[in-house]
Amino acid sequence: MGDPRLLPRRRTPISLRRVDSSAAVDLPHFLRACRGLPGDRVPVWFMRQAGRSLPEYRARRGSGSILDAIADADLACELTLQPVQRYGVDAAILYSDIVVPVAAIGFGVDVAPGTGPVVEQPFARRADLERLRPLEPEVDTPYVLDTVRALCTELPASVPLIGFAGAPFTVASYLIEGRPSRTYGRTKALMAGDEPLWHDLMDRLVDLAVTSLRSQVTNGARAVQVFDSWAGALSPPDYARYVLPHSRRVFDGVADLDVPRIHFGVGTGELLGLMADAGAEVVGVDWRVPLDVARTRVPPDRALQGNLDPALCLAPWEVVDAATRDVLRRNAGHPGHVFNLGHGVLPETDPAVLERVVELVHAEGRADGAA
Ligand code: CP3
Repeated sequence: MGDPRLLPRRRTPISLRRVDSSAAVDLPHFLRACRGLPGDRVPVWFMRQAGRSLPEYRARRGSGSILDAIADADLACELTLQPVQRYGVDAAILYSDIVVPVAAIGFGVDVAPGTGPVVEQPFARRADLERLRPLEPEVDTPYVLDTVRALCTELPASVPLIGFAGAPFTVASYLIEGRPSRTYGRTKALMAGDEPLWHDLMDRLVDLAVTSLRSQVTNGARAVQVFDSWAGALSPPDYARYVLPHSRRVFDGVADLDVPRIHFGVGTGELLGLMADAGAEVVGVDWRVPLDVARTRVPPDRALQGNLDPALCLAPWEVVDAATRDVLRRNAGHPGHVFNLGHGVLPETDPAVLERVVELVHAEGRADGAA
């Protein structure tokens, strides 16, 4: 608390005095890296940086549904700021959840502590499409927009807010399975067994994601991340046929807003090239594919985000130190690198370890392009 970096700050115009690579040097580190522009440090943030690993989060969060915490804009703003304040990360991620839009239009979704999204009546037949009406952000999720606007005042100009949405496949998997799944059996059965219905469902989820992302950006988010967390369950041909066209429409639907777009999934090593085809500037990489290998799987104009194994953060510091340095070494000074974990912070993580990771990345990371 009381960190001067979090005092409201006037947003200064981008300075054009020192120009390199045709871009202004005052662009925040995170936005520079998303654009592949050289800078003087590697930016870092952590997926699930706001969450149960933080004692201050546990103290403020209470025990109700996370959807209630998200609907309280003052609380959501505070929970978003907590990791920025503690870690000195280079980006904030809105405190919300990928199921907020579907819950807000009344599909009957909650988030069970320790489990994840659960659905009372899972999506099973054509008639269920009617339960997925369009989202009106100002009416259905005004609290999200209040949170975004408050954060734009509270965050320092150097720490952009990332807005986000669930990708159509990952949201569909929750709606169809009714709870987190290991096999995605029902999802794949509907996808391959009733392809017209699958595409109609995906169309509705594309519209929800685009509408939600656009409302976050027009209210002040300066980048967006689309979480297709469970896309790694699919083979490349199935991904290309059933998912890619829809994810591409999500990215196309926000392209005119001119904010960096990040596309992330877990276990997607075999899909990285296809995911890049969907159009995002930044491709998220989990810990299973080293960054230098991941680079060979995406076009050279893309930035990468990742990819320290979150489970290694539970090991002694020497292990974390070596693994962090290995990520940096494999990136080899490429300017298009946003340091992150390969997936979210595990609840049992000691925040002191993540503090040291941020310090190490800032001290040792090179983004000068001089590999
Ligand atoms: O710092 C942040 O990243 C905070 C914002 C955030 C949350 N969920 C808050 C949250 C984000 C970006 C998400 C996205 C999200 N939600 C994803 C995509 C990212 C990923 O992990 O792959 C997914 C798959 C979900 C669905 C979901 N919500 C799951 C699987 C869970 C975990 C259930 C549990 O209790 O372990 C949630 C709940 C959730 N969403 C928590 C948080 C901080 C857990 C803690 C809580 O209830 O307070």
